[in-house]
Amino acid sequence: MRTLKFKNNDQMPAFGLGTWKSGEGEVYNAVKIAIKEGYRHIDCAAAYGNETEVGKAIKEVIEEGIVTRDELWITSKLWCNMHAKEDVFIALKQSLSDLQLEYLDLYLIHWPIAQKKEIPFVSDASHFIPLEELPNETTWQALEEAVAMGLTKHIGVSNFGPKALQQLLDNCTIKPEMNQVECHPYFQQSELISFCHKNNIHITAYAPLGSGDRADKFKKVDEPILLKDSVIKEIAAAKNASIGQVLISWALHRETAVIPKSVNPSRIAENFKAQKVVLSDEEMKTIEGLDKNYRFLTGEHWVYEGSPYTLESIWA
Ligand SMILES: NC(=O)c1ccc[n+]([C@@H]2O[C@H](COP(=O)([O-])OP(=O)(O)OC[C@H]3O[C@@H](n4cnc5c(N)ncnc54)[C@H](OP(=O)(O)O)[C@@H]3O)[C@@H](O)[C@H]2O)c1
Repeated sequence: MRTLKFKNNDQMPAFGLGTWKSGEGEVYNAVKIAIKEGYRHIDCAAAYGNETEVGKAIKEVIEEGIVTRDELWITSKLWCNMHAKEDVFIALKQSLSDLQLEYLDLYLIHWPIAQKKEIPFVSDASHFIPLEELPNETTWQALEEAVAMGLTKHIGVSNFGPKALQQLLDNCTIKPEMNQVECHPYFQQSELISFCHKNNIHITAYAPLGSGDRADKFKKVDEPILLKDSVIKEIAAAKNASIGQVLISWALHRETAVIPKSVNPSRIAENFKAQKVVLSDEEMKTIEGLDKNYRFLTGEHWVYEGSPYTLESIWA
């Protein structure tokens, strides 16, 4: 199993299970099946609304003796309405309680966006708090304290571009160790990855299969379908692998972590086996040629007239 090494020598399994959109009654089974299959890294978030079920599954596999807590890598994320320093601890303790854990392995700021506490999901420009009022650096100080308190072993961010990262790097005591971002052959993020690697920040690739089960409001009608790409299909056929497996293997070959979501037992097993799919330098080069700079998660759902956030400011 490939791992990403952290400064203190902790090793995060590079392959993990995504849990966004894994619904009630599904995610419990998915997590149990995945861990029994050999998964050791589960990607969670308060905003996914399913940490209680994930926690039940984790508790049971530990009680059943399938894994120990320290063999698992559990990531969770701070939602945007809890960026005020005092709220970070409330949110983190809630995630720990829901997940039935004493500590997280990694806690991420989910988005570089702050919104009012009483409004978990925004629908109007007035629901945001401008970063000038509540900067990411202030939120980060609370994450640093959470490390000192033993509530999480590592801290990082998600959906941060180079500008937001640099600002954090210039104003922190503990440097961010992870940036979780969209990454797949149509959106390869090579510049951001190289910026992060230069600054000792690992990358976790989300939406590695194209995130096809997003709600329609997050989708464009004419979006390309990654899982039907003819070039990847050809590479997959030559290796007796599936398209999904080639996409996962590609992310692992780039030294990123990758967290495909599935609630389907056979696809959970199929994705795990992607770790055995070896891609040649030539195949990696061919896939490099597929980059379209195409985001599936455009961030447009964050943009409202008069909002302090624009697409340019979010991805900067
Ligand atoms: N930090 C962030 O802002 C952020 C944003 C997006 C995602 N994420 C994280 O990244 C994870 C992965 O991204 P995602 O869930 O958006 O999308 P994804 O993993 O790219 O795609 C999930 C979709 O692919 C299907 N699938 C899974 N394995 C497959 C296979 N081998 N062949 C064909 N289809 C397959 C799934 O269906 P079944 O379930 O039916 O198999 C589901 O419809 C999330 O779950 C979440 O943990 C983080």
